[in-house]
Amino acid sequence: MANRPMKTDFPTSNVRRYLEPGPIVLVSSSNEGRTNIMTMGWHMVMEFTPSLLGCVISSANHSHSMIRASRECVINLPTTKLTDVAVGVGNTTGADIDKFAHFGLTKQSAERVKAPLIAECHACFECRLHDDALVEKYDFFVFEVVKAHVAASPKHPETLHYTGDGVFVVSGKVISRRSLFRPGLL
Ligand SMILES: Cc1cc2nc3c(=O)[nH]c(=O)nc-3n(C[C@H](O)[C@H](O)[C@H](O)COP(=O)(O)O)c2cc1C
Repeated sequence: MANRPMKTDFPTSNVRRYLEPGPIVLVSSSNEGRTNIMTMGWHMVMEFTPSLLGCVISSANHSHSMIRASRECVINLPTTKLTDVAVGVGNTTGADIDKFAHFGLTKQSAERVKAPLIAECHACFECRLHDDALVEKYDFFVFEVVKAHVAASPKHPETLHYTGDGVFVVSGKVISRRSLFRPGLL
């Protein structure tokens, strides 16, 4: 049985350290002949069919206007091999530099959207904007994944999960309790 750890007061503004889901993703976009990439940690699965993802893309980011205008993007999953790239992409703006060229990333054509896939990533999810009702108020975009490309192995890639303050934790040991799950349950 788990023990009952002593808890102390904690700043509400820092709960991200425990609740930010990750994994960190790289969002590629394309608009009016230009491409861009940003790093993103604030995303969540909202529905399986259709496959819906909710994401916060700040209006301060160049990507925000590109994705708002083109109504599509690709959500790419980097592994720890791309740690410094993920940090670099998240600390530069496409308003100033071409991040594909600057970070030596390879563009691959997507099938269903104009935004490019990032070849170096473990998985790439082509997304179309499904609902923009909360974009104005919260910078919250709801995307539908319309095509998914995933590397065959490893089955559980080593992904990056951001805890704020420049620190990441890395996905680790795999624990299965499949036999305890009711059929059809999440
Ligand atoms: C680890 C990490 C996670 C980030 N998560 C988000 C996020 O979820 N939403 C967001 O709007 N910006 C996020 N950012 C910030 C953007 O990636 C950053 O502002 C980037 O420079 C935007 O690029 P752009 O101006 O080319 O769009 C994150 C940055 C880092 C380093």
